[in-house]
Amino acid sequence: MTGDPARRESRIDPANRTPSNRQAIRRACAAFLIAMCSLPADRVAAESSDVSDDWVMTMVHRHCAMCHSENPSHTTLLGQPPPKGVVLESIEDVRRFAPRIMEMVVRRKVMPFGNETAMTDADRIRFGQWIAAQDPPPPQR
Ligand code: HEC
Repeated sequence: MTGDPARRESRIDPANRTPSNRQAIRRACAAFLIAMCSLPADRVAAESSDVSDDWVMTMVHRHCAMCHSENPSHTTLLGQPPPKGVVLESIEDVRRFAPRIMEMVVRRKVMPFGNETAMTDADRIRFGQWIAAQDPPPPQR
């Protein structure tokens, strides 16, 4: 019930304790280093935006591309150039026009033109969060 006194002794014997302490310290250091290494990346992701480029392109294809591409497919624009020269075919295009998009889609909500695809306010806000998280942030207005 009380156990073997010799074994109990050995558990608190410094000669036995030291190596296991060293191991514990080594393990703690390793864990700490791993935490330190992974922290900055996590923080950058958290501080920037959780809105992905893919999500933005999904929105653009759904709500903008039929008018804002080299060859618009929207019936009212067939055979015409993209309105105001705004072509949104890649994420780089979207970045380039980000300040205007912020104005037209997020602030004034005048795009998508006529809002035939019923873009929601929530999606406008998310789009705005992505724009705000771009580096360097686009000029406001
Ligand atoms: C049905 C066609 C259509 C759709 C869909 C559409 N646009 Fe437009 N867009 C236009 C037209 C037409 C103009 C030019 C308006 C004008 O002359 O004032 C324009 C102008 C713009 C401009 C230029 C504004 C300026 O004066 O600098 C931007 C930026 C823009 N649209 C972004 C978007 C974005 C982003 C979407 C999708 C969320 C979108 N548009 C959806 C037709 C469309």
